Amino acid sequence: MRHLISINDLTNNEIFQILDLAGEIEERFEDFIKIMKRKTLINLFFQPSTRTRGSFEASMYALGGDVINILEPEKTTSIAKGESFEDMIKMLDDYGNIIVLRHHQENMPLVASKISDVPIINAGDGWNEHPTQTLIDLFTIIKEFELPTNLNIVMCGDLLHSRTVHSLIHACLRLKNNVILVPAPKLDLSESFIKEINIRYEIPYIECYYTGLECFYGFDKGSYFAEFKGKTPKINAFRIHRELENPYVFYMTRLQVPDQLHNGSSIFSPYPSIDTDTIRNPVLSNKKYIIMHPLPRNQEISTELDNYPQSRYFEQAKNGIVVRMALLMWMLKN
Ligand code: NCD
Repeated sequence: MRHLISINDLTNNEIFQILDLAGEIEERFEDFIKIMKRKTLINLFFQPSTRTRGSFEASMYALGGDVINILEPEKTTSIAKGESFEDMIKMLDDYGNIIVLRHHQENMPLVASKISDVPIINAGDGWNEHPTQTLIDLFTIIKEFELPTNLNIVMCGDLLHSRTVHSLIHACLRLKNNVILVPAPKLDLSESFIKEINIRYEIPYIECYYTGLECFYGFDKGSYFAEFKGKTPKINAFRIHRELENPYVFYMTRLQVPDQLHNGSSIFSPYPSIDTDTIRNPVLSNKKYIIMHPLPRNQEISTELDNYPQSRYFEQAKNGIVVRMALLMWMLKN
């Protein structure tokens, strides 16, 4: 029996097996309908969700299985009567064949996996990881660039708290992509995360003296030095290759913590965002790229870009169905 707690629970080969299967499902959807009758998925969500919960549910129904949704368990289950999380998992594994767990606390899926007799899928744990979103992100990248390798993946926004970013960084580095980091002030990756990456992959974390990506902060390099010196965080990268001309993926993320103000303005400002002005910047207009976002978005992607040919964020959400169908088939077989 396999659990999926971290993206590193899957080898690169296994990732490709799942994504190939997702591709087959997309091509021949009818052939996969109702092939998993009598299997029950339990969605156990301690935090809100639209796409993750909804697409796991839709995927299981498409495969012919059943779904039990347990939402806001702190209010709706015996957790409210003082029952422990561990006891709850011991019971739930008798009621279904696979448990999809989202929790506000890091590592609760890992705790569940030590108790459960059925596979646990981490659907997001605190600020730690969100491995199934990474599978969707990679599937979206493959559809565009065929191989999810040798690309420049630019992660923008709240890198400290975005679990989607953390899982995706591991996958991108394992697949030999450059990872360029454009954090909001005070929201760069944690030192412990950077250290873990350095140790695990022996990839240096370097300062990019000039990437031209300052346009994500809403100003070009000239005004940056004139007006914003000292305010803008440095752009850094885990650099694997020197192919800065290879295609780019701009991966935007929302602010995950309450906005904090100082003298009336956000301490996380300038928050990296993208709009029609950003994409008119010559640095971007010279590049081959797509724009991604795990969603939900706040202000970091202007709605003006929704029908823009490079935008992929709604397609990403749609890809959640076939990728999660493939994952369920793969996990219930293994
Ligand atoms: C993300 C999450 O929950 O981590 N959403 C998702 O699953 N697509 C991103 C977010 O909430 O910002």
